[in-house]
Amino acid sequence: MPTAASPIDPTTTDAWRRLTELAAAYEPDLRRALADEEWVRRSTLTAGDLRVDLSKNLVTPEIWKALRDLAAEVGLEARRDAMLAGERINVTEDRAVLHTALRLPRDASLELDGQDVVGDVHEVLDRVYAFAEDVRSGTWRGFTGRPIRTVVNIGIGGSDLGPVMAYEALKAYVQDGLECRFISNIDPTDAAETLAGLDAETLAGLDAETTLFIVASKTFGTLETLTNARLCRSWLLDGIRAADADAGREDGPIVARHFVAVSTALDKVAEFGIDPANAFGFWDWVGGRYSVDSAIGTSLAVAIGPKRFQEFLAGFHAIDEHFRSAPLEANVPALMGLLNVWYTNFLGASSHAVLPYAQSLHRFAAYLQQLTMESNGKSVRWDGTPVATDTGEVFWGEPGTNGQHAFYQLIHQGTRLIPADFIAFATPAHPLRDGDTDVHELLLANFLAQTKALAFGKTPDEVRAEGTDEAIVPARVFPGNRPTTSIMAPALTPTALGQLIALYEHITFTQGIVWGIDSFDQWGVELGKQLAMQIAPAVAGEAGALAQQDASTRAMIDYYREQRTR
Ligand code: F6P
Repeated sequence: MPTAASPIDPTTTDAWRRLTELAAAYEPDLRRALADEEWVRRSTLTAGDLRVDLSKNLVTPEIWKALRDLAAEVGLEARRDAMLAGERINVTEDRAVLHTALRLPRDASLELDGQDVVGDVHEVLDRVYAFAEDVRSGTWRGFTGRPIRTVVNIGIGGSDLGPVMAYEALKAYVQDGLECRFISNIDPTDAAETLAGLDAETLAGLDAETTLFIVASKTFGTLETLTNARLCRSWLLDGIRAADADAGREDGPIVARHFVAVSTALDKVAEFGIDPANAFGFWDWVGGRYSVDSAIGTSLAVAIGPKRFQEFLAGFHAIDEHFRSAPLEANVPALMGLLNVWYTNFLGASSHAVLPYAQSLHRFAAYLQQLTMESNGKSVRWDGTPVATDTGEVFWGEPGTNGQHAFYQLIHQGTRLIPADFIAFATPAHPLRDGDTDVHELLLANFLAQTKALAFGKTPDEVRAEGTDEAIVPARVFPGNRPTTSIMAPALTPTALGQLIALYEHITFTQGIVWGIDSFDQWGVELGKQLAMQIAPAVAGEAGALAQQDASTRAMIDYYREQRTR
């Protein structure tokens, strides 16, 4: 079993050598593979409620075997078990990695440093649920006595992307009369537009009296979040005092009815002026990008209610159990992670598209970008030695069918190999009909058509048979053999969403283990943050700070200052 000090260089394994040979000899033929019912049957797997069709991938039984051997040689299962047991596999931060503990059922137990983690998790969840019920029922009221209508989550990265993605995905479950909004960017446009004041005629915009802010920040030290929180606090105080002449001069009582916080740093929450009684904690063993299922999901819990939030967590847990216990040949996250390694390291792919055929998942790719790229965008291994292979492909995507009319051209006929995951749901959130046509079925027809077109392509002879002018035959040929994975679930429920997220968490983990990297740190975001703090005084016009900048930065600041002073 590998220890923290010894990641195995995957390129030295027998399986890697075998995969290199297989890649060199491989001549993809998805038309032939997909004519074989048995291949399709064996390639169609289930994880929780997710039905996953791997048959349209560029693999053969020999390649699958070599990929599984690779997993064995790098000790994937042992590392997985180490993570699930709470070993400190986040080596560079010396932390356990226990997001899976966030969704363990109440009667489970897991000790970390002599502390029962499951008890702690459920204690916080119970507080989040009680708070959510109070807001939903109108028991929790704003300073002037009016019930809360809008919850604004202030956070960034994992403290934003998970909550906003899940809220958008589960809009169909949001309580009538409640809405969530999200402020993340330090661009003041974000706060300004989100807080746009209540317009008496249109009733658009926010009303301070009925707005509750959740400041979500693991560290409670993030520039964007604290700046936005201060902007929102001023906006709130102004709004309440404008509405209530008797509001008084003290800020504390007003803030207490309109601000709660979620953080691992409860001391800093108190310093900011938020009553610790209104704060929900979590732990350093939850990475920001793995935290939507912690108290960071409080906005979601308010919006969809505790019962649905519990279903969301149960979805994660179902996939955790699958990842923990399914044999490698049926272990969907492990196999999808290994496939990504195959494409990245043996077939030259450098990006991966994720294409949900569900408009409600329109923020899913953005969420996955942080999950996958902040986790696996690394060039040293967990012992500090350089990686021996490429890592971290670029994840991107948009909902189908919008993407079809934008960038699919490149996936179908471009020169690059872009593996793509297609995600769909059997039951629509909104079952609309256009005359006799069930519109959701048109969506599904597109979902199916695209993977078929990518796999089968269209040969020159097939193009000619359509009577195409010979001169444009080449332009109308589709090479085919473009790999896809199709995922379908019964409906986009909280449970299914939890399952989908956990699936990608464990895919990401699998890739990180093969590459020998620490998928749970994010040192690469630090330098820019430090420099921004150094550069800010120069931007504000401080001559000394400006003089310290390089010529390019200085010239841009000069230009900026000229524009602002015009
Ligand atoms: O800068 C990256 C990062 O640390 C992410 O990993 C994290 O999700 C985000 O910033 C926000 O951090 P916090 O929750 O501590 O405000």
